[in-house]
Amino acid sequence: MTMSEIERALCALRLSGIRATLETRILQAQANQEPFLDTFSLILQDELDRRRSRLMDRRYQQSGLDERLTLADLDWRFNPKLPRAACFELHTLKFITEGQNGLIIGKPGTGKSHVAKAIAYQATLQGLNVRYLEADSAFAKYALGNDAEQRKQLRTLLDADLLVLDDLFLARRISDAASEMLQSLVHQRYKLRRSIVVTSNRVVQDWGKYLHDNTMATTILDRLMHRAHLLEFEGKSYRLKEAASRLTGLTAQETIKTDSTKND
Ligand SMILES: Nc1ncnc2c1ncn2[C@@H]1O[C@H](COP(=O)(O)OP(=O)(O)O)[C@@H](O)[C@H]1O
Ligand SMILES: [Mg+2]
Repeated sequence: MTMSEIERALCALRLSGIRATLETRILQAQANQEPFLDTFSLILQDELDRRRSRLMDRRYQQSGLDERLTLADLDWRFNPKLPRAACFELHTLKFITEGQNGLIIGKPGTGKSHVAKAIAYQATLQGLNVRYLEADSAFAKYALGNDAEQRKQLRTLLDADLLVLDDLFLARRISDAASEMLQSLVHQRYKLRRSIVVTSNRVVQDWGKYLHDNTMATTILDRLMHRAHLLEFEGKSYRLKEAASRLTGLTAQETIKTDSTKND
């Protein structure tokens, strides 16, 4: 085969990773007088690498995440009472393999969504199928769909390896359709042993009120909590801190430093 025939064959076989590096690998092999097997494994690795990074990109695009957050972006000194060890434990993603859930409950602005998004992003990097939803807008979208659309939405959310419901009960009351969707998601994912991460500013004792139905709240909570990591986020709002810093023209980091110097 000529070089252009090889290129066409690689294209037809969808081996774009090999196609991208082949010329370099040929030059490298000639320059180093490499044994064939060494060159061949490098070429094979190029294809594997390309596929893996494509998969991670696709997983991120499908996830519904809007930012690639990590736990490294958090300043753990800002709210020293955050359950740091539990956050990192969830970040290992072992809970997904074990079909456990994560409930991140606590005050606004303390980093609940940040941690949930970091876990979700990490899961996409591991090639997992993740769905991240802001609960209220997902419920509203669901309520607008016809039967077929609702079934399709549920199917997608049930199929995911990890489902993140961010800011559950932000609007306090949710519609009957939304309650049923939530119940269905929690029940079916529980049976399938598929993990859910929920974040909420609302203490679980109040969930019955928001669902208009205590029995439903109990059955939802039962299943969510049965195999769950419960993380309580106590502390000050980083959002307020950032807003205050903008007013005074300091960055949040500088404000924290200024504050901690004051306390010394
Ligand atoms: N400890 C922290 N260090 C750095 N940034 C933080 C910290 N806590 C929160 N943030 C940032 O503050 C903003 C609000 O956090 P968020 O996770 O949305 O709070 P919550 O979901 O608890 O209301 C986000 O931009 C987040 O990245
Ligand atoms: Mg939030």
